[in-house]
Amino acid sequence: MQYSEKVMDHFTNPRNVGELEDPSGTGTVGNAKCGDIMRVYLDIDENGIIQDAKFKTFGCGAAVATSSMATEMIKGKHISDALKLTNRSVMEALDGLPPIKVHCSVLAEEAVRAALWDYAEKKGIKIDGLEKPADDIHDGHHHDLQESD
Ligand code: FES
Repeated sequence: MQYSEKVMDHFTNPRNVGELEDPSGTGTVGNAKCGDIMRVYLDIDENGIIQDAKFKTFGCGAAVATSSMATEMIKGKHISDALKLTNRSVMEALDGLPPIKVHCSVLAEEAVRAALWDYAEKKGIKIDGLEKPADDIHDGHHHDLQESD
């Protein structure tokens, strides 16, 4: 398996690891297949700008690298722009991931969305284009070898 230099960099030196005290929103998601869990914390100001983002994971190296990159990409952005973050854009920013690791980037994307959902719930607002997060995340685009039909 070949990882890009950027993936290795974000894996060995992950940005934004940790948690936030009194976050505006937190999101926790898990992948039923690999059993990995991701939690994202967001600090969002009154203008809807993400001032800070942190993550914690019981996840693999690709999950660490994608969450590191994802949190970097949404910091300083408005929530409407953070919503446009996709696992594809995170993967592109990392110069790609091996196909069997795509679901790890989905975990990062979904944790961000779950944290935005939590923020919207707490604020009593609706964010256009944001849906209630699922409990378990499945990658709809790729199937790995363990999947049985
Ligand atoms: Fe589960 Fe990567 S193998 S998140």
